[in-house]
Amino acid sequence: MTDARQDIEQTIASLRSAYPSSFAQCATEQQLRDANARFLGKKGDVTALLKRLGSIEADQRKAVGALVNDLKSEIEKAFAAALARIDKARRDKELNERFFDLSLPGRVPTPRGHVHPLMQTRDDMLAIFKDLGFVIAAGPEVELEQNNFTKLAFPPDHPATDMQDSFWIKPGVLLRTHTSNVQIREMSGRTPPLAVVSAGVVYRRDDDVTHSPMFHQIEGFIVDENVSFAQLKGVLTAFAHRLYGADVPVRFRPSYFPFVEPGAELDVGCVFCARPDGTRPGCRVCKGTGWIEILGCGMIHPQVFENCGIDPDRYTGFAFGMGIERVAMLRYGIPDIRLLFENDPRFLAQF
Ligand code: DAH
Repeated sequence: MTDARQDIEQTIASLRSAYPSSFAQCATEQQLRDANARFLGKKGDVTALLKRLGSIEADQRKAVGALVNDLKSEIEKAFAAALARIDKARRDKELNERFFDLSLPGRVPTPRGHVHPLMQTRDDMLAIFKDLGFVIAAGPEVELEQNNFTKLAFPPDHPATDMQDSFWIKPGVLLRTHTSNVQIREMSGRTPPLAVVSAGVVYRRDDDVTHSPMFHQIEGFIVDENVSFAQLKGVLTAFAHRLYGADVPVRFRPSYFPFVEPGAELDVGCVFCARPDGTRPGCRVCKGTGWIEILGCGMIHPQVFENCGIDPDRYTGFAFGMGIERVAMLRYGIPDIRLLFENDPRFLAQF
């Protein structure tokens, strides 16, 4: 046996007796990796042995190489086992430590947010219609003139289509001025029977204490065979009673909207003065009339049905639309519509 070979075999023997205790002493993964590097790292002892194989005579090199490689894989296995041991010890320690309850409330209380009063009002209104059997639909805020005006049977020169009233994106496209566009979209895409409501943002050039250029509406309609004005009155009265209380008086007044015939407006008794015992002349909310207008409605015009591909000889229906801001303002006694959109926490925290 050559000297070189003898020397290597001795080194193998001493490394073999060294690594187990070296690994056993390690308590952390980092210590273990450092210990491992002393054997198998670039400058480690086993790596040095492999480099020395070149000095061995060719006929013995294979046998000695195998010995070194055996040692190398032994150490690799021992490393993996030690790593698993350290990992398990860490987990066990963690699990045996004092219980840490992540869900405990903090020492400094965090103020809770809540749904915006306007959205709360919208949700309450939609919930009533859902309860009455309506499905909820959505429509776009940037809309074709066709869907916002033309198919709703607005005559081309109607004042609402004027530059002064609407925000135009480009000819033929505008920010919808009401949620009635959803009627056109839903009626064009579905076949009766239909009972649909939709809530959303609408835009008009209007800006004062009770008007905002951006505001919210709820639209709804029913289409089926033999839908009558009596049903319109029944459904909308039920809605008003659920929203304002079962004892609130309601009245329907004739009115005009191009897409209904006949058209009407629904008033409820002034929630501030007309209940329980009559009108108070000085009321600012109803201006002494005892009534507050809450929505527009009517029987869907046959022309609108035709524009949406629904047979007006077979089907009838009614539609209605209303603002949400005013309901919220009445409900919470909010004097200025702009308060709803400024997002001032001093205001919002009051609800
Ligand atoms: N779109 C109307 C508006 O913005 C409200 C309205 C009136 C909607 C009558 C309707 C309706 O569906 O039948 O003033």
